[in-house]
Amino acid sequence: MGPGEGRLDVARVRGLFPGLSDGLVHADGPAGSLLPENVVLAVAQAMRVPVADRGGAFPASARAEGLLASARTAVADLVGGVSGGVVLGPDTARLTWTLARALARTWRPGDEVVVSRLDHDANVRPWVELAVRAGVGVRWAEVDIETGELPDWQYDELLGPRTRLVAVTAASSAIGTRPDVAAIARRAHAVGALVFVDATHAAAHDLLDLRALGADFLAVAADMWCGPHVGAVVADPALLVELEPEKLAPVPDRVPDRFESGGHAFELLAGVPAAVEHLASLSEDACGTRRERLETSMAAVAAYERGLFDWLDQALRAMRHVQVIGSAPLTTPALSFTVAGMRPRQVAHELSRRGICAWDGDLYARELFDALGVNEEGGAVQLGLMHYNTAEEVGYLIDAVAALRPR
Ligand SMILES: Cc1ncc(COP(=O)(O)O)c(C=O)c1O
Repeated sequence: MGPGEGRLDVARVRGLFPGLSDGLVHADGPAGSLLPENVVLAVAQAMRVPVADRGGAFPASARAEGLLASARTAVADLVGGVSGGVVLGPDTARLTWTLARALARTWRPGDEVVVSRLDHDANVRPWVELAVRAGVGVRWAEVDIETGELPDWQYDELLGPRTRLVAVTAASSAIGTRPDVAAIARRAHAVGALVFVDATHAAAHDLLDLRALGADFLAVAADMWCGPHVGAVVADPALLVELEPEKLAPVPDRVPDRFESGGHAFELLAGVPAAVEHLASLSEDACGTRRERLETSMAAVAAYERGLFDWLDQALRAMRHVQVIGSAPLTTPALSFTVAGMRPRQVAHELSRRGICAWDGDLYARELFDALGVNEEGGAVQLGLMHYNTAEEVGYLIDAVAALRPR
């Protein structure tokens, strides 16, 4: 075992998840993962004691401050940021809108933004809508239809002196493709553009580093990595200071607070450090600071998931009645497929009948699936693996897909 590597004992890990007692195969992770018991307990505990809003002189309010501060620090550790740059909110889509509205105030007619056809709609629509309102041009990075890749060389053409923002995903939850975000960010920064990276899906499968990715803004959502429904956008506090979001007058003007108009779900925030702690302790070999433990554990997660996913991916590709979308060499453990003669919803029903939880439809990869033409047929079926899935389950998934036949 090399440095940073670690082992993942899946039997122990599965024991942490009360939700697995339903006996189903949870292959629906790309749209939200199961919750481990420590997260459930942390949320319950925050509901057992009085927790008030922020800003009061009494203990229940101090508790709220503490929950918020711990959640910020945990997210900062997860993505290599600083807690003063962690904006928290209900989900990444709404936070992206918030940041997009703040950034759009700095745009001038004739400026440009670059979005990608690979992205989840949460990292497309806010930019497109606000660009249209501000008279700003929208340029599209296209996906290679055959491979599902997002070639970074095309950004040489797409970027120019008026580019203000590049929005790109760290990984597609629909087809797993992981673009070379660092290469795209280098190009964007060379023309003075900011880079907004949607790491909502990627963060569950690899330890991310804001700076290494070149992300000026990085969006994550705890419900993708075993936490509650809490979203975060992480940035350098010095950059946040330059932005003027829409806010209620009494909301503090300091950052990151000024981006958080409205109340927080403090009980849920309590689950965020618990979820990061869950990730950090997945490998029994993990030691050191939380970030160091995350490094070891997430390396173990990546290696474990890769082994299972390669098997699933190759087996599905070998089936004549199955069409797996894309073939990018660098992916997360998520894929989408269609079945000859069956609508995706029909496939999802069949899988559900066999005890398999799988999403179907456009998976919010609206632009991608429109470009591929699969939306006309009801989209695709998605299978995604998490660190709690097993080889036995993958074998079962393969058999279930192999047995699918049009009725
Ligand atoms: C890649 C990606 N981006 C964004 C989102 C939206 O996340 P949220 O539900 O937190 O708005 C999702 C949700 O599945 C996603 O998979």
